[in-house]
Amino acid sequence: MGLIARYQERLPFAPGDPVVSLEEGSTPLVLAERVSERAGTEVWLKLEGANPTGSFKDRGMTCAVSAAVREGAEAVICASTGNTAASAAAYAARAGLTGAVIVPEGKIATGKLAQALMHGAKVIALRGNFDQALKLVRELAERHPIALVNSVNPFRLEGQKTAAFEVLDALGELDALCIPVGNAGNVTAYWKGFREMDSRPRLFGFQAEGSAPLVHGAPVEHPETIASAIRIGNPARWEEAMEAFTGSHGGVAAVSDAQILDAYRFLAANEGVFCEPASAASVAGLLAHGARDAERVVCVLTGHGLKDPQTALSQAGAVVPCEPDIAAVERAVLA
Ligand code: F0G
Repeated sequence: MGLIARYQERLPFAPGDPVVSLEEGSTPLVLAERVSERAGTEVWLKLEGANPTGSFKDRGMTCAVSAAVREGAEAVICASTGNTAASAAAYAARAGLTGAVIVPEGKIATGKLAQALMHGAKVIALRGNFDQALKLVRELAERHPIALVNSVNPFRLEGQKTAAFEVLDALGELDALCIPVGNAGNVTAYWKGFREMDSRPRLFGFQAEGSAPLVHGAPVEHPETIASAIRIGNPARWEEAMEAFTGSHGGVAAVSDAQILDAYRFLAANEGVFCEPASAASVAGLLAHGARDAERVVCVLTGHGLKDPQTALSQAGAVVPCEPDIAAVERAVLA
């Protein structure tokens, strides 16, 4: 069952409204024993890469695109570091709408680009960064009857808050939630979801060191990080995110690319969980900064590792070349 059907009474949709769904949500929440050992506390992983397009964006997109259809829109647009583009393109295709996505040229992971193109979206490679792309699409959506499906769209947050419901349904309670932060829509959505359920876990947000405006308290003009999904210097949901950190008695901190990559490899090799680099920032942050006195922590792994095969191959071991005879195969396998 998709999110809108499952949580209709807590979402701004009425029975009979058009629903564009790929049966998103209901993602796995798995206990991470190796990470728990390293962190010294009980750690669960919310595997948002198990959504239909491989990221948490599908939760928001089913709502944003359904609302766009309800309003009679014919086209949707977004700025994106990749995942929003892939998700918007997929849901637009399913709804029979035109999709356009503006991405920073050369700075989005290969899998995301392949998805957006395969779903038939117009993919525009901006010679600029995400922050510039977002400013431009906001302007464009004001001038033309095109639905903007970035997380400045309130329907996106409505959909994404359902991940908090699922975590609470599965665990009953938790003390802290660790989450990567880019444009700051997702942490805002989790906080909304938790408050609607009268739950107040500490929210710990983590940004990449070279793209950490919320940590520095000032926009970053030229954000940099290997975690291209969160390469954002001026988050749209800045105030809401800060309110989530202070209101929940959590906080926001930075992690280096080296710490992100360490967590990324550790999760794949020791937990069997392959997430993309930006997602690993949640675990990297927990390992680097802790979660104070939390006894039960959920780390949100926002996107699937297959999104970014190039970073994976650059971080993994080499393949073993082999001649097609049994002696050579024996040597290769048993060495
Ligand atoms: N993790 C992944 C894999 C993401 O793609 C994003 C954001 C985030 C974390 C951060 O979430 O922006 O709500 O704070 N990706 C957006 C995109 C910006 O365009 O795909 P956020």
